[in-house]
Amino acid sequence: MARIIDEVSRTFSEYLLIPRLTRAEHQSKNVSLRVPVAKFKKGESSALTINIPFVTATMQAVSGSEMAIALARQGGLAFIYCSQPIESQAAMVNKVKTHKAGFVQSDSNLRPDNTLQDVVNKRKETGHSTMPVTHDGSKNGIFLGILTDKDFWEFEDDLSRPVSEFMTAKENVVLGDTGISLLEANQLLQKRKKECLPVLDSEGRLQFLVFKKDYVDHRNNPSELLDSHKRLVVGAGINTHDYRERVPALIEAGVDALCLDASDGYSEFQKEAALWIRERYPDVVIGGGNVVDIDAFRYLAEEAQLDFVKVGIGGGSICITREQKGIGRGQASALMAVAAERDKYCKETGIYIPLCSDGGLSNDTQIIIALAMGADFMMMGRYFAMTDESPTPRVSIGGRIYKPYWGEGSNRAKNWQRYNQGASETGFKFEEGIDGYVPVVGSVKEVLDVTLSKIKAVMCNMGSLTVKEFADNAVLTRISEQSFIEGGTSNVLSLDKDIPREV
Ligand code: IMP
Repeated sequence: MARIIDEVSRTFSEYLLIPRLTRAEHQSKNVSLRVPVAKFKKGESSALTINIPFVTATMQAVSGSEMAIALARQGGLAFIYCSQPIESQAAMVNKVKTHKAGFVQSDSNLRPDNTLQDVVNKRKETGHSTMPVTHDGSKNGIFLGILTDKDFWEFEDDLSRPVSEFMTAKENVVLGDTGISLLEANQLLQKRKKECLPVLDSEGRLQFLVFKKDYVDHRNNPSELLDSHKRLVVGAGINTHDYRERVPALIEAGVDALCLDASDGYSEFQKEAALWIRERYPDVVIGGGNVVDIDAFRYLAEEAQLDFVKVGIGGGSICITREQKGIGRGQASALMAVAAERDKYCKETGIYIPLCSDGGLSNDTQIIIALAMGADFMMMGRYFAMTDESPTPRVSIGGRIYKPYWGEGSNRAKNWQRYNQGASETGFKFEEGIDGYVPVVGSVKEVLDVTLSKIKAVMCNMGSLTVKEFADNAVLTRISEQSFIEGGTSNVLSLDKDIPREV
């Protein structure tokens, strides 16, 4: 007969934290959100740590190179999605690893015979107001000049006139040569009081632009996640089908961490793939999952020897696995069970295996509770899909701006490798994810600023300065439906929800 786990399957919103003593040193500025990603022996340090406890979901609608660059600049790690050809995934990894912080390849370029109307259109399309002019309008064409929004007046000047009449011509532009260091480029910008420095090769072709605003931005992002060569750190999703070809290409492209992407990770396939990679590439970090119970955690820790394990089945915002297959577990119950087993494993072996809570985090409070319950870091899809840097276009629906967001198990993504449904795309018989839209909320930096401030504030309430200390100190209480209601506003009309505003 089937074994029934007696305990009810619970979610994060069923818990609240009870504050602990806040001492004088418990201030946000003293809090460290640095967490390990790779397993480590007690007393030693992890081979890979991240500066904020966030990684992106391995999804088409979330993790492209722009997202990876944006998140690494904030201290987190993106896993570039694997439901794409090996070459294009490796190219995305390569783009992140070769991203020279401060050196930008221009994606808004003009020909001298383009009209001012073309400039206005391009500015709307890309949002950029500084555009180099090259002989053929390409990003590496012969540099002829530069046009910014200070050079013409959109509503006064004749928009049919050519760019060549308005641009600052090359002879009047301060330029850098290929090989110039970022420090030298910034010093030149400062000395010549300029906003942008085009860098040209010996043939006069445009290579990069260096912006003053990026320098300022860099100073404002002290958490940037860099490898020992000062390149941004990036991860990539892999599957258990083509890893023999995919992994070598990703390693060649410079990937730092791999994550076996499967909805149910308790399988011999994960073990075989992980051991194959470990034997050939002992230095790369390998995570996997997903699991929701202690047997599966033990298997991935002991047999597959993974560096980190992901917890979560059926909780994702776009996920219909529980409805379709009856598989899954409340995320809080799953995480608490696995975290307790991880701690037990650590006592037995002296090896600490970081846990990643994956999916279903629908607000900052749930993120905080997940950390308190023993997750070292979070994998999130929806949260990042809503930002400017996700790889999807903005769409206006009913006067509001949205971005498409779809599950890897939806018909749109057809990521059959993740769901073990037959052996090919044509074997994709039923969906495990939906295809929808999420509202646009701003840049990765903007949304993280708010979330991170909340996490730090709560950690101070809980008398903790590190994530580990937070989880060790945390005291949680289960809440009744009534106290959940009490947690909202009471007997006050909310300006946003209850009183219609005149627009
Ligand atoms: P979210 O952060 O709640 O949007 O959940 C993202 C997570 O959902 C991913 O990291 C995956 O683990 C999972 N996921 C992605 N696509 C699907 C799907 O189509 N069905 C079920 N789960 C999915």
